[in-house]
Amino acid sequence: MLTIKYIEEKDIARIHHLEKEGFPDPWSMSGIRESLRQTYTILLGAWLSDMLVGYVICYCAADEAEIARIAVAPSCRRQKTASALLKEIKRICLERQIKTILLDVRKSNLAAIRLYQTSGFTEDGVRKDFYANPAEDAILMSFSFGK
Ligand SMILES: CC(C)(COP(=O)(O)OP(=O)(O)OC[C@H]1O[C@@H](n2cnc3c(N)ncnc32)[C@H](O)[C@@H]1OP(=O)(O)O)[C@@H](O)C(=O)NCCC(=O)NCCS
Repeated sequence: MLTIKYIEEKDIARIHHLEKEGFPDPWSMSGIRESLRQTYTILLGAWLSDMLVGYVICYCAADEAEIARIAVAPSCRRQKTASALLKEIKRICLERQIKTILLDVRKSNLAAIRLYQTSGFTEDGVRKDFYANPAEDAILMSFSFGK
């Protein structure tokens, strides 16, 4: 059974491992630690028994939130783990009176774009050459509560 809980410092090495599996430009251990220590960060993990198989990093400021990272271990994908993480992020954001959740995603990342669409996010526009390593356009997406 999948359990969603807040990430603690002891989980950072595993998050770093999942970063390397999921992204061409993985965050460093110190970058993840720094993010975790900020009061405006929500960092949730998804556990299958005692194995951390996915995580989401979200920043909150005033009535807006931003999904900074989400990834699931390759062997555990297409089992609704990321969907469960986004559902819990939405629940927490609603509780904190957040009105809108924003994110950006690489144009070629069709799996993530589809995930966000199935979780209720809609496309707001494109930011040209937003990413480096490799260079790519970003699709900007958002979810608004009460729509
Ligand atoms: C994107 C990612 C987080 C999705 O995680 P996941 O746990 O497999 O996603 P879910 O199982 O919750 O998928 C929900 C829906 O999203 C869509 N989806 C997810 N992966 C997909 C894929 N590879 N191809 C097409 N659609 C996909 C499907 O509609 C899916 O529902 P379905 O399985 O019933 O068809 C995962 O592929 C990943 O870690 N990728 C690498 C990191 C990354 O790109 N993160 C996003 C950065 S913006």
